[in-house]
Amino acid sequence: VVDVSVLDANVAVMAARWPGRRLRPHVKAFKSTALARRLVDAGHRGLCAATPREVLGLAAAGLGEDLLLANEVLDPGRLAALATCGARVTVAVDSAETVDAAAAAGLAEVLVDVDVGCFRCGVPPAEAGRLAHRARRAGLEVRGVMGYEGHLMMAPTEDKAARVAEAMALLAAAHDEVGGSVVSGGGTGTWALNEGVTELQAGSYTLMDADYARLRLPFRQAVHLYATVVSRRAGRWAVADAGLKALGMDHGNPLVEGHPVLYCSDEHTTFLPADGEDLPAVGERVRLVPSHLDPTVAYHQQLVVAQGDQVVDRWDVDLRGW
Ligand SMILES: Cc1ncc(COP(=O)(O)O)c(C=O)c1O
Repeated sequence: VVDVSVLDANVAVMAARWPGRRLRPHVKAFKSTALARRLVDAGHRGLCAATPREVLGLAAAGLGEDLLLANEVLDPGRLAALATCGARVTVAVDSAETVDAAAAAGLAEVLVDVDVGCFRCGVPPAEAGRLAHRARRAGLEVRGVMGYEGHLMMAPTEDKAARVAEAMALLAAAHDEVGGSVVSGGGTGTWALNEGVTELQAGSYTLMDADYARLRLPFRQAVHLYATVVSRRAGRWAVADAGLKALGMDHGNPLVEGHPVLYCSDEHTTFLPADGEDLPAVGERVRLVPSHLDPTVAYHQQLVVAQGDQVVDRWDVDLRGW
């Protein structure tokens, strides 16, 4: 259930720092074209995606003015679909293979993805210029670079700013060699620290999760998973009917309205009494805050949109799947 007033407040806070095209919202966090449209309507007309399915869905929804697939793809069929979907599509490349696959599929534009320390995709900074050269020789327009400092989203505050600056210095050095006007990167956890990008790729700030809440960002929890208490051992524990098949668990247990969580199993979350308080009765609803938004949303088919106590809309999670 999405509290649309909180969502809109989060969008406004981010837009004040990263207005218009300075933000390229990442749709992987919420996988909904309806929510993406709200961000486009707020002025963020370029969008970021993690899967071909997300790009194709955005294109089909008429949101294809400037889509970045911030991920490496090799499958010829998927790349050809991106090339012919009618949207402006830019893909990330970090190897000769991904460059050649993009060119062979008829894609026009790429960003050179640079490794800024995340142990994931990205070419070593020193090789970025050479890869850009290869892409241009293959007939591709190289729009610039991207580099995602994902390893720093939850970094300890003492040296976080310095480490983000170091990562962005690597990206800037690569950009000097690559050229182009785009330097893309960053996320919710570095939104206030990243000074090195021309566009920030944040997504989770829209709906938020318990992990990011630990950073005490000015974004509030806009989505909750409503579950029903289906069993209770009076004074000891209660069991809600949502477990790890309904929650992305890689960042830990969900929060249950102030109750310590004992554990999650496939279909259940078992939680304990909060200090001096009763457990909710069987049949009562509880609100769970997911620890990791992106995989949680990907388990669900719809976002129920609420304004206060009223359900005002339902947004399909229509960018799910592969
Ligand atoms: C390539 C890329 N950019 C940006 C982000 C930032 O997203 P968020 O704002 O949800 O942290 C992610 C998240 O995983 C990502 O994979």
